[in-house]
Amino acid sequence: MSLRAQRARAPDRPLGGTSGAWRGRFLRFHVPLAIACIGLLVLFMTLPIFDPLGYVRMDMESGSAVPRPMDMSAPRPDRPMESQGTGHAGTAPAAGHSAGQTPAPDHSTAPAPSSGHGGSQTSAPAAHGGDQAGTRPDTLDPARAQSRFDQRLTVATGYVATLLLAFTLLVGPANLLLRRRNPVSSYLRRDAGMWTATFSVLHVIVGLQVHSQGQISGMLGYFLAPDRSPLLNSFGLANWTGLAATVIVVGLLTISSDLALRTLKAGTWKWLQRLNYALFALVVMHAVLYGALLRATSPFTLMLALSVIAVLAAQTIGIWLWRRKRSRTTVLAA
Ligand code: HEM
Repeated sequence: MSLRAQRARAPDRPLGGTSGAWRGRFLRFHVPLAIACIGLLVLFMTLPIFDPLGYVRMDMESGSAVPRPMDMSAPRPDRPMESQGTGHAGTAPAAGHSAGQTPAPDHSTAPAPSSGHGGSQTSAPAAHGGDQAGTRPDTLDPARAQSRFDQRLTVATGYVATLLLAFTLLVGPANLLLRRRNPVSSYLRRDAGMWTATFSVLHVIVGLQVHSQGQISGMLGYFLAPDRSPLLNSFGLANWTGLAATVIVVGLLTISSDLALRTLKAGTWKWLQRLNYALFALVVMHAVLYGALLRATSPFTLMLALSVIAVLAAQTIGIWLWRRKRSRTTVLAA
């Protein structure tokens, strides 16, 4: 039966329909989602305006829990002026952390853009092929080029995951707004959730390389100071919120099936799905702690802000519509 016939027969059919047949879901959801995600990834990895190193970087060596812009003009004891821009991909904070918990030296894979970009970011990071403005990428040594690629891929996959997550939180309110049924489980929301988890895990795998050179000790340095106490500067807190978000997104993936819905029953399953709100809040905190708000002119930061506004507005309208519908049915039932 064509979609049009189905719609004519059930105008209140939820977005994406109710059929759980894999072939239909593959064609209706997974193929378009795959094309959209890969399209976004290619854009984020190729367009200069999406080059994270074209904008001020967060100072991962600051001891503050509030993200601070990296000041590349400030000489650091471990990085005399002339060595700036030549250091390799930073190793994650391992030994030598002082009580301030500042991460180990050379943390950002590439120094923040040259002084021209220090304060306010110029919009088009045209010259950001290399570390320092004007350094062509292919002149960077392979390790540095690799970590620049890893950093760009980390931010790109992070934002694809964040946009997918925002999309899953808009499906329910959209159903209510369009006077469609809003079932406990919608295959459209569930399949978009699977892609969110996929890109989140991909992001974490690449993200853990950026400041660790693939060393386990380096990865531990994302979360722990040398005295093995939790790292609580903005870099540490960014990773702890990221980790909590990852546990939730992978946890929700494990119950993303009809079997789990039947086993857990609708009430428990729906309650667990509400963890998506905590997940979204954690991801926004994670991005802010990684300095997203320091990059006011970055299109990524704009996307983050628009996602937050869209999700908050849609959820508020959704709750209002749901309450109105419920009060009406209660009156009619009375
Ligand atoms: C243990 C888990 C995680 C780790 C280790 C991690 C690691 C990172 C790293 C290293 C960066 C910054 C790259 C840079 O600029 O140097 C980053 C940024 C980001 N991460 Fe994660 N991440 C984790 C979980 C997540 C999850 C679950 C999401 C989303 C679903 C996410 C979304 C983002 C976003 C959107 C940014 C960009 C922030 C910005 O610079 O504007 N991260 N993450």
